[in-house]
Amino acid sequence: MDIAPEMREANRKLREQLNERWYPQFHIAAPAGWINDPNGLCFYKGRYHVYFQHHPAGTQWGPMHWGHVSSTDMVTWRREPIALAPSLDADLGGIFSGSAVEGDDGRLYAFYTGNAWNNGIDDTDGARQVQCLAISEDGIEFEKHGVVVDAPEGISDFRDPKVWKEGDTWRMVFGVSSLQGRAEVWMYTSTNLLEWDFEQVIYQDPREEVFMIECPDLFPLGDKWVLIYGPMFLKPDGYRFRNGHNAGYVVGTWEPGGTFEPETKFRPLDWGHNFYAPQTFLAPDGRRILYGWMGSFSAPIASAATDGWSGQLTLPRELRLDTEAGLRLLQLPLAGLEALYGPATEFGATRLEQNTDLVLNDDVDAYEVRLTVNRERTTAERFGLLVDAVDGDVTYVFVDQQSGRLGIDRGRNSIGDRGYRAAPLPEASSLELRVIVDRGSVELYAQGGQVAMASFSFPKDGARKVVLTCESGALELADMQFRPIRGHWE
Ligand code: FRU
Repeated sequence: MDIAPEMREANRKLREQLNERWYPQFHIAAPAGWINDPNGLCFYKGRYHVYFQHHPAGTQWGPMHWGHVSSTDMVTWRREPIALAPSLDADLGGIFSGSAVEGDDGRLYAFYTGNAWNNGIDDTDGARQVQCLAISEDGIEFEKHGVVVDAPEGISDFRDPKVWKEGDTWRMVFGVSSLQGRAEVWMYTSTNLLEWDFEQVIYQDPREEVFMIECPDLFPLGDKWVLIYGPMFLKPDGYRFRNGHNAGYVVGTWEPGGTFEPETKFRPLDWGHNFYAPQTFLAPDGRRILYGWMGSFSAPIASAATDGWSGQLTLPRELRLDTEAGLRLLQLPLAGLEALYGPATEFGATRLEQNTDLVLNDDVDAYEVRLTVNRERTTAERFGLLVDAVDGDVTYVFVDQQSGRLGIDRGRNSIGDRGYRAAPLPEASSLELRVIVDRGSVELYAQGGQVAMASFSFPKDGARKVVLTCESGALELADMQFRPIRGHWE
């Protein structure tokens, strides 16, 4: 798709100034410019496609396009041209988020929200949002089909269509701020992907202060249905919902023609600093895969100021439902990513005496450390990994036995936003942690995916050390392994 010449030129300039010190090696990011939500996740004609919200001409949110990458295995990736750019009256203010499905005719149908600013320039006078369709025969070139779902009079927050097929019926859900200012998920149905009929409001967020639902995604998992979404704007609640924008999930039941019936409360999906707008899709082998956006609309992103790029996606995560522990979602890094891993350094069983450290590597920027903690033999009050450790700067991936939390502490970062995030510590005598560090980010997965956390970490210049540490007590590991990870671009 052609993008405006001035956008192309601005993007070329950003590419020239791209600084790769924090640029992800094995996470999806734009070649330059801004990125937010993952969009249109699908497997089509033998390739996985990941599209994403993208402003090619700047490192802040701006006129939205759909950027694009593709892969045969979700492990190594190829960059594709920008798939969708504003061009219609209905989408001149941005190609907002949406999804993609293979139609019965074998073509790829991409549904997105067309955003049109009321004053033609910016959001100060509000916007009109409608659901639009673009069709492709190869996943790369799209032909726009225009508006398929118009917004009712008076409704302006009306976005992020997620489409799937249920029996013979196509279904679309998206988020709406109702005339009463309540946050809702609306459902439409279609038999041909072109004509859509309103069916009903299938869900309303129970909290009055939440005025809009962004990026709803409704899908079956096990014998339940899961509704993932971003409620705007939740207030921080202790350790929860501290990021300005916070995505979470509710597990329940849904049947065609009915409303979504929650059986759990709304829970955080990811406990890190930088996670929002996740989307899932069903891989051909039946795995439900999720990508989230690692970024922020509220805290400044260090790379945006100086490095020519800003934002990335999480690793692909396989979702499972833990039916024994109160219908909780488990999130596991996609099996197969290990194809990018270099040879392991096996530390095996390891004991750190009270208040000691062990350097695992003294100069590395892309790697995973797996730890199995023997908690019965660990007396340390707090322990963990110091990552991106450069000259006093450090990001601390910690387990706090005192408060019963584990998390990511950026209190000693001299670059980027500080603060810590902490999730409930899984109850387990043998605690398994996977700490996955890329050039500008850390992801933590604990206990078979019970906890997932994604945070930026922007180290200052110099060799980046990885250090195992324990405080006021000893740490005993049943096992520990370190593996470097190489880049994922073809
Ligand atoms: C969520 C979101 C969506 C919207 C898109 C615009 O991050 O605000 O609701 O479609 O981003 O970029």
